[in-house]
Amino acid sequence: MLTEIHVVTLFPDWFEHLKDVGLTGRAVEEGRVRMRCFNPREHADGVHRSVDDRPYGGGPGMVMRPEPLAQAIEAARAGSAAPVSGLSPQGRPLNQRAVEQLAGRDRLILVCGRYEGIDERVNEALIDEEWSIGDFVLSGGEYAAAAVMDAVIRLLPGVLGHASSAAQDSFSQGLLDCPHYTRPETWRERRVPGVLLTGDHAAIARWRREQALLRTARRRPDLLEAAELDDAERAWLEAWPES
Ligand SMILES: C[S@@+](CC[C@H](N)C(=O)[O-])C[C@H]1O[C@@H](n2cnc3c(N)ncnc32)[C@H](O)[C@@H]1O
Repeated sequence: MLTEIHVVTLFPDWFEHLKDVGLTGRAVEEGRVRMRCFNPREHADGVHRSVDDRPYGGGPGMVMRPEPLAQAIEAARAGSAAPVSGLSPQGRPLNQRAVEQLAGRDRLILVCGRYEGIDERVNEALIDEEWSIGDFVLSGGEYAAAAVMDAVIRLLPGVLGHASSAAQDSFSQGLLDCPHYTRPETWRERRVPGVLLTGDHAAIARWRREQALLRTARRRPDLLEAAELDDAERAWLEAWPES
């Protein structure tokens, strides 16, 4: 089970906030997970401690220099056999299944790129896997690392208020989550669905499951293929006029 998150980053201050706020902050405060940052700049020599340089072959932008980055990764890896995970738009798309696997490691080692990215030889020598948080380009891996950290930490035992919360979330059962409502019963002439006010737990569970099925069919039909649906549910969904 995950107890340590080591982040290789040029901007360690970026992560201080995560140690203080919300769910990640609480997990750190309660000692469920320890976060440490490893800054390549501390491994850079020269007066300027420079961590980037111009790309061979010319062209715009800078590239992260290999040696300071490699030393920071090695420091982050020390004492564990955990894989080193790079954040990259070219990586495997991150999804809930992958997040569940990451949460099962003892240490998460996240390497944040900047500029045009990292020297490819560091990728070859020290990065075991790469994760992308979507088909778009961020200015730094820190944004992606924070997303990974939050998604993983909320799965750790005792972090969410209700143990079953994560199991009901989108993707956990292969479906999107159902809609949620809170007080007041009527808000700007919109009423809460009547079934949620009945106190009939079986009927509420059935309604929630149907809503999750319908939402998934309308918004993410690609998920239905792999979702665990019984024959009756598949038939019900096919009979639904708008799905
Ligand atoms: C400006 S990007 C470099 C993009 C790179 N030149 C490319 O086109 O593949 C700088 C850094 O942000 C991070 N990054 C950008 N987009 C990302 C994404 N979609 N998922 C994960 N990390 C991302 C990576 O760590 C990357 O090294």
